[in-house]
Amino acid sequence: MSDAPILITGGAGFIGSHLVDALLAQGHAVRVLDNLSTGKRSNLPLDNPRLTLLEGDVADAALVARAMQGCRAVAHLAAVASVQASVDDPVATHQSNFVGTLNVCEAMRTQGVKRVLFASSAAVYGNNGEGAAIDEDTAKAPLTPYAVDKLASEQYLDFYRRQHGLEPAVFRFFNIFGPRQDPSSPYSGVISIFTERAQAGLPITVFGDGEQTRDFVYVGDLVHVLLQALELPTLAVGPVNVGLSRATSLNQLLALIRQVTGSLPEVSYGAARAGDIKHSRANNLRLLERFAFAEPTPMAEGLARLLGR
Ligand code: NAD
Ligand code: UD1
Repeated sequence: MSDAPILITGGAGFIGSHLVDALLAQGHAVRVLDNLSTGKRSNLPLDNPRLTLLEGDVADAALVARAMQGCRAVAHLAAVASVQASVDDPVATHQSNFVGTLNVCEAMRTQGVKRVLFASSAAVYGNNGEGAAIDEDTAKAPLTPYAVDKLASEQYLDFYRRQHGLEPAVFRFFNIFGPRQDPSSPYSGVISIFTERAQAGLPITVFGDGEQTRDFVYVGDLVHVLLQALELPTLAVGPVNVGLSRATSLNQLLALIRQVTGSLPEVSYGAARAGDIKHSRANNLRLLERFAFAEPTPMAEGLARLLGR
């Protein structure tokens, strides 16, 4: 095994820290670049000598170049993950969500690093799914600055592939959930917010009628795919949806949380969020073709793990 580290931008965050754990468990050296805006030191096993944390911003090109030195591959996960945050402050989120990607591409080009995993999003499809399973060729309709930046990042990665021989593995994550997804902000992922509030007995607000659907994936199932993408000798070109092709409405999610916790606090329904997608469900045939994907973790089991039951 090469001793050259794998760089994980956003490695102190929810998904990133699970990838860090899995890579360290396999004996790899890992370098994390994170500005700790939503990520936390406590998500990382900092006493592991094979792990280094560089605290800083992916919008800082010189720092990204320094972080890239001597690495053998990159997982570029750093971004403001909240769609709503991008609607509220497009200029600030663009620095992280787009300029950061460009800086990663440039640092890879100048330092001859080839393999990069990229955390794109189902948000690039906007409402084009209309409830049907969305495949990767579905027309793109980015409805928010977040989605525009993810789509533009994908296109830049493809430019660097064609022009400079980068090997991007672009994944369009659907809705990932599990332990360490930070529930503390209203911008956080819905499952982390609902489960935390359910445990604390605090009221829950649903934006809209609760009939919007998402394709929820347990974080451990995603990490299995990311590990393979780092090691495969060759990667087929083109983005890959990471979803289970299963739609769960927020109302169904609340019923599941009630089932796992035994009770539910007061639930109220407010206005839908601007730019919110109604239905999002993956066609995941490409994922199943290209990667080994074992039976996914059932939602109730993922929720139970998240709730520590
Ligand atoms: P997260 O907020 O827990 O992780 C993002 C990490 O990036 C955090 O540690 C944060 O501190 C760091 N970060 C943010 N801006 C940065 C910057 N400018 N410089 C350096 N570090 C920065 O969120 P997550 O859910 O783990 O998301 C990881 C990636 O996956 C993101 O790119 C997100 O857009 C993408 N994604 C997530 C989901 C999901 O359902 N969670 C779905 C689709 C795509
Ligand atoms: C999520 C991810 C985004 C990713 C996308 C891919 C987060 C924070 N967002 O966006 O990074 O690209 O999936 O599909 O991880 N809601 C409520 N009440 C709440 C919070 C949310 O009703 O308190 C609703 C929202 O309006 C939305 C649904 O729950 O309809 C899901 O919201 P959220 O978890 O923020 O995810 P997405 O917007 O789908």
